Amino acid sequence: ARVVVLVSGSGTNLQALLDASAERGPAYGAEVVAVGADRTGIEGLRRAERAGLPTFVHRVADYDSRPDWDLALTESVAAHQPDLVVSAGFMKIVGADFLARFGGRLINTHPALLPSFPGAHGVREALAHGVKVTGCTVHFVDEDVDAGPIIAQAPVVVHEGDDEATLHERIKDAERALLVDVVGRLARDGYRIEGRKVLIP
Ligand code: GRF
Repeated sequence: ARVVVLVSGSGTNLQALLDASAERGPAYGAEVVAVGADRTGIEGLRRAERAGLPTFVHRVADYDSRPDWDLALTESVAAHQPDLVVSAGFMKIVGADFLARFGGRLINTHPALLPSFPGAHGVREALAHGVKVTGCTVHFVDEDVDAGPIIAQAPVVVHEGDDEATLHERIKDAERALLVDVVGRLARDGYRIEGRKVLIP
């Protein structure tokens, strides 16, 4: 399966997918073919360039309207003919055009156990709430934020003395493994979405 990955930061989830493909070869089932971002100068794009992959950047500020940005992003992703689009630390909410084109084959990874702690500060909010266990979620993206059908989750224990950075790092260890597993299974086995259920044969 052809995969386009969208990033906004360090791109360690992207790197995990690149490493899985490199280590397992075609047997993994998924191949990252391009990487997109909403900003320049991030490690995620450098990781893509080091892997010899095409990249594209669409900054919201460069467009007259958010729908114009959404359409430009949609067209750049579509140009790579993806079977699956993976939002891995991509910090923008995609719009109607994007969802019309890629809905049903667009997944996101979130560093909390949805539906708890959605949004851009899930790790911080879980920590502040005093949870003993948090985790990460890989889910299909729908028109709501961090609310689409859940594919897989992994638990992560909160340690005494954790701060947002140490907890997020521990979550990202679990998150990278979860994302690599999910992308491989979706690519190899196919899937069906029935309401809120994701069925992978
Ligand atoms: C991940 O934890 C993702 O869930 C969150 O931001 C982090 C991105 O990490 N939205 P990276 O850019 O993949 O290293």
